[in-house]
Amino acid sequence: MRQHGLPVPVIDTGRPHSARIYDYLLGGKDNYRVDQQAGDELVAAATQERAGARANRAFLERAVRHVVGAGLRQVLDIGTGLPHSPNVHEVALDAAPDVRVAYVDNDPIVIAHADALLRGSGVVGVALADPRDPRAVVEHPQVREVIDFDRPLALLLTSVLHFLTDAQEPQQVVAHTEIEKFFEGFELLTPGLVPVPSWRPDAPVAARPATVGVYGAVARKAG
Ligand SMILES: C[S@@+](CC[C@H](N)C(=O)[O-])C[C@H]1O[C@@H](n2cnc3c(N)ncnc32)[C@H](O)[C@@H]1O
Repeated sequence: MRQHGLPVPVIDTGRPHSARIYDYLLGGKDNYRVDQQAGDELVAAATQERAGARANRAFLERAVRHVVGAGLRQVLDIGTGLPHSPNVHEVALDAAPDVRVAYVDNDPIVIAHADALLRGSGVVGVALADPRDPRAVVEHPQVREVIDFDRPLALLLTSVLHFLTDAQEPQQVVAHTEIEKFFEGFELLTPGLVPVPSWRPDAPVAARPATVGVYGAVARKAG
C-alpha cells in the first residue's frame, strides 16, 4: 500500500522501538506494551547498577578495615577511581595512623583530582599508571614514596579487573570461574568469592539480598 506516493510504514508493535521507549520514559502515550516493558527493564538495570556501585564501595571499606586490622600498613589501590569519601586512605588511617596508601589509575582526570586533593600529605601517593605495565606502577616515584615493596602490602583491585581482561564476550568476564582465576596462587579468606554484600557484612544480610552483579573476595599470598 502507498500513501502520498510513499510506502505506508508498518508499525511493529511486537518489538520495542527506541523512540517509543523514550516516549514512555518521558510519560508519553505513544508507546506499546513492549516499549513499556523495555523501558521498565532499563530503569531496573540502572537501579541495579547504582546498588552495585554502593555495595562495592561498602565492600571496599570492609576489606580495607580487615587488611589494616590484620596488620598491613601499606595499601596499593589500582584503578582507584575519582576520590569519593570515605576514600581508602581515610578508612585505613581510621584503623591505623601509620598506614600509607598509593593510588594508581590510568585516567588523567582521576589522577588530577586525586593529586589536587591528596598529594603532599606524606601518607598518600598518586600515580598515573596502568597495571598492564607492572614495572611502571612499581617504579613510579609517587608509588615509591609511600610503598616499600620489600614489606607486606595490600593490593586493591576493586571494580577494575573487568577493564583488564582481553575476553571479548561479556559472559567470559562475568562467569564465576573466570573471576576465581584472578585468585590462583592465593589463599581466599572466608567466605571466599561472593556477591559483595555477603563478604563479611557489618549487619546481617537479608535472606534474599537485592541482586548485585558485583563479586568480591579478599585473598592472602604467603610472603
Ligand atoms: C569503576 S571505577 C572503580 C573505582 C574504585 N576502585 C572502586 O571500587 O570504587 C574503575 C577505575 O578503574 C580505572 N581503570 C580502568 N582501566 C584501568 C587500567 N588499565 N589501569 C588503571 N586504571 C584503570 C578507571 O579509570 C576507573 O577510575
